[in-house]
Amino acid sequence: MNYNDVLKSARENLNGSCRVCPVCDGKACRGEVPGMGGKGTGSSFMENITALASYKLNMKVISDVKEPDTRITMFGKEMDIPVFAAPVSGTTLNMGGKFTEQEYISWVINGCHKAGIYPMVGDTAIDSFLITNLEELKKSSKNGIAIIKPWDNLNVIEKIKLSEKAGAFAVGMDIDAAGLITLSLHGKGVSPKTAEQISELKKSTKLPFILKGIMTVEDAVLACQAGVDAIVVSNHGGRVLDETPGTADVLPEIAEKLKGKLTILADGGVRSGVDILKMIALGADAVLIGRPFVTASFGGGEEGVSLYVNKLKADLKSAMVLTGCKCINDIDEKVIY
Ligand SMILES: Cc1cc2nc3c(=O)[nH]c(=O)nc-3n(C[C@H](O)[C@H](O)[C@H](O)COP(=O)(O)O)c2cc1C
Repeated sequence: MNYNDVLKSARENLNGSCRVCPVCDGKACRGEVPGMGGKGTGSSFMENITALASYKLNMKVISDVKEPDTRITMFGKEMDIPVFAAPVSGTTLNMGGKFTEQEYISWVINGCHKAGIYPMVGDTAIDSFLITNLEELKKSSKNGIAIIKPWDNLNVIEKIKLSEKAGAFAVGMDIDAAGLITLSLHGKGVSPKTAEQISELKKSTKLPFILKGIMTVEDAVLACQAGVDAIVVSNHGGRVLDETPGTADVLPEIAEKLKGKLTILADGGVRSGVDILKMIALGADAVLIGRPFVTASFGGGEEGVSLYVNKLKADLKSAMVLTGCKCINDIDEKVIY
């Protein structure tokens, strides 16, 4: 199997919920939530792509960089590249329903582990999906991270405890899911949280606590004051609020304020090793990638997922050689043109 075979099968297996476009940019699927697209006009999803593409790289060819080291250690785990599979859930709601949540997520989890990175798993309108995700994490050799919806705090804390029991090595909350149509369609109560409520969640666990869905310096500072260990600069792949900026455009000012004070993750439109390099240069410590892991899993199962991660590895390595970066720590604003 090669990556083109994976894409071809994915196109068939996703039952029209995703067209598996040559560039996954949110145009063909605009407005498709539920589905794989962005909310409303689809502008926030498309803006993620446009923002990243607007940054160009400085080529540096006079250097001694031949075999760059792409590894990092995060949340106590060594990873081959600074990438997590983002939490993406809802095979029946969003992905055409050909495969079950259990099949899809087991392929993502095991494919990531085989290729030397870790998965995040999500939570949805259907309670059993988080349970399935946690069971699959527990069964796997190396586990991962659980990201829980912003239910009322008692419910979130209950789910944090379930994640701890399943062996997750970090937990978090996608606070931006307060804007998710799929939850309101199911009559599920989610809402924004105050800094005090976030602090209560952080204190409820010894695991690192990640707040996903931060798009302004102001919220990032509040999250830091609430004591979270990490933030994800994210607009949920454009699925929760129409007309936001691209994440690559807000990341630099957030990083300027908070770099070193907490872990900064970012997602939205990251597709290739070059995109990973750009996000790190703009201030992220690591990135999350969403939709391409659905394509890889639906198109090639565990092997498809590993193939995609290995492709990212090769691409990132090559981009580091040509920008003169020996290790991930070397990647900073100097690589941006
Ligand atoms: C179909 C779908 C389902 C998603 N489900 C979740 C989820 O359960 N929890 C969560 O935190 N984020 C969820 N996300 C958002 C992703 O974690 C991530 O932020 C986003 O997909 C990144 O953008 P990208 O797909 O362009 O890489 C979902 C995204 C999609 C497309």
